[in-house]
Amino acid sequence: MQSFAAWPAPRLAKDPADRTRTGPKAPAPRPHGRGANRRYTSGTNHERGPEVNLYTGNSMRSRLRAGARRLAVVALSAAWLAGCGGGEPTAQAERTYVIKFPHVTAPATPKGQAADRFKELAEARFPGRVEVEVYPSSQLMDDDASLEALAFGEIQMIAVSLSKFDRLTHAFQVFDLPFLFPDLEAVEAFQASPAGRELLGELTDRGFQGLAFWHNGMKQFTAPRPLHAPEDARGLKFRIMESDVLQAQIQVIGGSPQKMALGEVYQALQTGTVDAQENTWSNNYSSKFYEVQPYLMETNHGYIGYLVAVNPDFWASLPDDIRSGLEEIVAEVTEWGNARAEAINQEAKAQILASGRGEIIELTDEELVAWQEGMRPVWDEFSDDIGQERIDAALASRPGNNH
Ligand code: LMR
Repeated sequence: MQSFAAWPAPRLAKDPADRTRTGPKAPAPRPHGRGANRRYTSGTNHERGPEVNLYTGNSMRSRLRAGARRLAVVALSAAWLAGCGGGEPTAQAERTYVIKFPHVTAPATPKGQAADRFKELAEARFPGRVEVEVYPSSQLMDDDASLEALAFGEIQMIAVSLSKFDRLTHAFQVFDLPFLFPDLEAVEAFQASPAGRELLGELTDRGFQGLAFWHNGMKQFTAPRPLHAPEDARGLKFRIMESDVLQAQIQVIGGSPQKMALGEVYQALQTGTVDAQENTWSNNYSSKFYEVQPYLMETNHGYIGYLVAVNPDFWASLPDDIRSGLEEIVAEVTEWGNARAEAINQEAKAQILASGRGEIIELTDEELVAWQEGMRPVWDEFSDDIGQERIDAALASRPGNNH
């Protein structure tokens, strides 16, 4: 059912100098727009052609040569320090660990706020030892590129929508099943269950060490006409995230799905490349979709949340005190951010209302049941891939356990 493109072997580009202030500085943020989403390797379906460094344009070979040169310089410096009575402890103590953390949403969104909070707490706890460079709003790269960059050690941290790990694992598809989770509380109960916690380690072997799940919120449809019933969506072109479940979800209601990076959606809606899309209130507001979409349907039909992940080799290379300190901070930020996510989304909804642009349509209970029934075939289509046990564990997290 799903074309499952082989992901290139991760765990390359482990030049330690790339992670410290002795390594290359981060580039100036790239501009928004099409160029901002350019992939940085050639080849399709993640087959690797000559690899090009995201920041310098160098090939992998020349990067490895440069890495060897840097290592030689580091070795010479260490020998020199040892001769001066300095030695390894001094060099280690002075080292600054730089964590590049690009993401695609605006700073005011749940993810934007959590990422900034992580930076603030990490730098306050480890002054001069840890520096976190947060790049919001797709300034550095889009999510697809960041998955690859993390696996290859070009960046150190991500918080990418669970839907977008689709080509790496079927396990996260459970989060995309329409109307499976009624609200964030149900999602959180599942994520805290053994079946949910297991998912944090799902991709460690492939270069993504999961540290936490961060919420955004529940999704709403936006469209050029009111969508009271699934049939109203027939014939519309919908932008979706990179997920085969979401693709099936649109197809089952007679729409035409188009996978697209978030940074391209506003223009695509404006120019008519796509007609409609689904997103959270905070993304609909901060990405200004309500300016180019006359109707926003309050369907809460799906969930957007993130896997916060680090490059496993980078994480293992951190001194124990820094690694455990950062893990504590991630846990603290997770609690802080997830507790605020719903309020941030409701505030964004209120801002859309206050703008007077984009009509918010509340659906009746009967209309919502029609949507649930219309999309339900997607569950059966993906139950083998996801695993019925995992779906059952998610169902058990719903209030009242109602299937
Ligand atoms: C989207 O692409 O619509 C979302 O994944 C954006 C996000 O990260 O919330």
